[in-house]
Amino acid sequence: MYPKKLRCEYLADPLCIDVPAPRLFWILESGKEKKPGSFQAAYRVIVSSSKEKLTKGEGDLWDSGKVESPETTHVAYAGKPLQSRQQCFWKVKAWDDGGNESRWEDCEVGSWQMGLLEKGDWHARWIGAPAREPRKIKVVDTTKPEPVEIAAPDPSPILRKAFTIAGKLARAMLYSTALGEYEVTINGQRAGDDLLQPEWTDYTKRVQYQVHDVTGLLRPGENVIGAMLADGWYMGLLGPGDAVRQRFYGTNRRLLAQLVVELADGQLVDIVTDGSWKLLENGPVQASDHFRGEDYDARLEQPGWDAPGFDASKWIPAAVDDSVKANLVAQKNEPVRVFATLEPVAMHEQVPGRWIFDLGQNMVGWCEVELGGAAGQKVTLRHGEMLELDGSLHVDNLRLAAQVDTFVLDGKGERWFHPRFTFHGFRYVEVSGLAGPATAGMLAGKAFSSDPPVAGSFECSNPKLNQLWSNVLWTQRDNIASVPTDCPQRNERMGWMGDAQVFAQTGIYNMDMAAFYSKFTADMRDGQKPEGMYPDFAPHPFPPGSFAMSFGPGWADCGIIVPWRVFTSYGDKRLLEENYESMKSYVDLIVDENPKYLWNTWGSNYGDWLNGDTLKAKGYPAKGGEMPKDAYATAFYALSSGLLARIARVIGKYDDAAKYGEVRNRVVAAFNETYVEKDGKIKGDTQAGYAIALGFGLLSDEIQALAVDHLLGAIKKYKGRLSTGFISTPHMMLELSRRGHLEQAYKFAENEEFPGWLYTIKNGATTVWERWDGFVAGRGFQDKGMNSFCHYSIGAVGEWLYRVVLGINFDEEEPGMKHAIIAPRPGGTLAWAKGSYDSIRGKISSSWKREGATTTYRVEIPPNVRATIDLIVPKGVDISVDGKTLGQAEGQGHFDARGGRVRFDVGSGSHEVVVKGA
Ligand code: BGC
Repeated sequence: MYPKKLRCEYLADPLCIDVPAPRLFWILESGKEKKPGSFQAAYRVIVSSSKEKLTKGEGDLWDSGKVESPETTHVAYAGKPLQSRQQCFWKVKAWDDGGNESRWEDCEVGSWQMGLLEKGDWHARWIGAPAREPRKIKVVDTTKPEPVEIAAPDPSPILRKAFTIAGKLARAMLYSTALGEYEVTINGQRAGDDLLQPEWTDYTKRVQYQVHDVTGLLRPGENVIGAMLADGWYMGLLGPGDAVRQRFYGTNRRLLAQLVVELADGQLVDIVTDGSWKLLENGPVQASDHFRGEDYDARLEQPGWDAPGFDASKWIPAAVDDSVKANLVAQKNEPVRVFATLEPVAMHEQVPGRWIFDLGQNMVGWCEVELGGAAGQKVTLRHGEMLELDGSLHVDNLRLAAQVDTFVLDGKGERWFHPRFTFHGFRYVEVSGLAGPATAGMLAGKAFSSDPPVAGSFECSNPKLNQLWSNVLWTQRDNIASVPTDCPQRNERMGWMGDAQVFAQTGIYNMDMAAFYSKFTADMRDGQKPEGMYPDFAPHPFPPGSFAMSFGPGWADCGIIVPWRVFTSYGDKRLLEENYESMKSYVDLIVDENPKYLWNTWGSNYGDWLNGDTLKAKGYPAKGGEMPKDAYATAFYALSSGLLARIARVIGKYDDAAKYGEVRNRVVAAFNETYVEKDGKIKGDTQAGYAIALGFGLLSDEIQALAVDHLLGAIKKYKGRLSTGFISTPHMMLELSRRGHLEQAYKFAENEEFPGWLYTIKNGATTVWERWDGFVAGRGFQDKGMNSFCHYSIGAVGEWLYRVVLGINFDEEEPGMKHAIIAPRPGGTLAWAKGSYDSIRGKISSSWKREGATTTYRVEIPPNVRATIDLIVPKGVDISVDGKTLGQAEGQGHFDARGGRVRFDVGSGSHEVVVKGA
């Protein structure tokens, strides 16, 4: 057994850590011996200031010594205080429970670097173009009768600074950020491959800076650092529906950059943004905006502008702006970058001169396109998620977000172009303005998102469910550019928290979301009002003191639910501590405003959004799907106060744990008194009501059984169809599955008519639709103002695929997968299923296969993880575990057979369970 996959603050070899005691992580790999059931008994971490010292085993920064502990996650650095820009190299060795010690040579080297920790470490000044009055233009909003006025984005200024390196170079690190969006180049090459930097935060509270190692881009003698600035979230169009804003956070784009060059003799040279930088206001990027797209004019390119030897004598000095007061923080999360290139799968000329390319996948990003033609010729790319029946691009659902890129050519031959400071949600691209016919090879989609590693896999014998899994993962990728958004195409793209909380667990199974959600919890805190209200989306671009779109049950509660999910999935206690005061003030506010323990005073209340009552279908009940909003809100009151009590207990605040536990008990009592009848009927008699009450644990044992019957009744009322909204659907799937109605859950999952996931797949969906009936053959598109084809909310069924079909479950009492509960539940039409989850303690795999009366389960558990296998089997069947009859196999903790259910413990390694006669 030896440690591998070394990470710091959840990231592989990060360059900007700004916490004083960074946490270290590793996983354990079985050695050749593959000894089953191994545990880590002790570890030793060595942190050195250089690779050489580390190789020699000199932990000059920290040597933990041998620590008797099974811990492999969140091991907090406890060595010498770390300085700004400190380089730290580390390795770890482990002892297993048999006393075997891993060899240092088998451990890869991990590293991290500290960011600029003190304000005084920054010598750079904010620079940019002189302020200009914006020009107004009128643009189309597809949901409005008249064009609307917006400010035309200014051209992106380009900035440059030439400097000389005299001496031998050892290392060069670039610390940079912007108000707006930026790209930096050194000698004509991009520093890093991150996009949409510095990402979206509430810039009035925090601005993230990025760090790049640019040693390889510099050379002795003259060098040039160049930059471009654009509007981004800081100044560009932003916001949902009628709350669209522009220039919300500020009216001037600004750049801050500090290039720290370390020479071989130890000398440090800082190249910083200041008044000595040169600026050209009218760069080739003529306008860019996340919603609208980008306009590029190749005729305005300045060949060689960001390389030595360029004559910038006609450029103006950059304006220095010392009025900027930004709180700079190191970027916590994986950057946004391209993760896939999609080649067109089809193309057609829809009307003469208008070519439609199909990329085969609804994606987020932009296209790279090879263009040639006369100087001044303009090529236009429009982006949409769907096609109309006549084969033209469907753009009705975009509202104000036109997603149009234009390229004006310079007549100097064919070249590849792409936009920089925008992103689109699309599968189809319409290209017009070409000099000749389009060719398939001239265009490719570059899909990008924040880039946490993919953590999950899923496959089964129903190909449509496999497509569903793929659609859920794609929809996640399409909605995590810096913040978890509802959708990536129309003017919305907000960090809607109802969607985020309901999808969080699926998100965690699919990808390693720890760093991403750590940033998001800070965004939610930044959006919280002093009174304690969490917003309904974060960041929350409203002026201070505005309570608009805040304090919505099921949305604002995300402020508690997401930290809890991060804790149970990754074991992150520090995140709970960081968010504790904020969570507490939120629950206190609910209590203050609703002292009778029924949540009646809320901010917004969207209820169980997109429930059955919003469906437009013949023969489908027009009413009766929506859980009444008061009961729904009170259920969240109970959930949040109950979670807060558990969180308080985890972080050792026992008085608070008792206090909020009591609040929860009172809310549960009030819920039952007010909304639950003696026979178990819940106000509204909706599928959603039962799903939520059962899922949130609001009912007594006796009432639970009755409520399950009512749930089945409510399903019958809908002729076996769903009527739940996106908040309650995942709870219904899980509750049916664990309460003896697995087959009903499988029926929902495999149903190919709407409302049902596979209906969308039958209709060619490659991402999850916002609405079950987003498009219906014969009827057409749903409400164009709200009809996204890339919304992850109802994709929260992913949690069911992992937890029920594969059976990979967390144990909330032993967070961070110290203990896994493997409870696969074969069902529906499936003959087999297999998949895995890369947990924070290593990869867990689970598969099963049904052949005649025999079901074979295979499970793989990483070292240092205990697992309980939990199966439903008819009484009297033969069960063998790893070739031995259950109950006799060695190393099994306990064997418990009750009512057809067997549970037994296994240690790490591969296990095979064969159930015969099932
Ligand atoms: C979004 C949703 C969101 C909702 C709030 C919508 O416009 O797209 O997914 O949660 O507003 O009700």
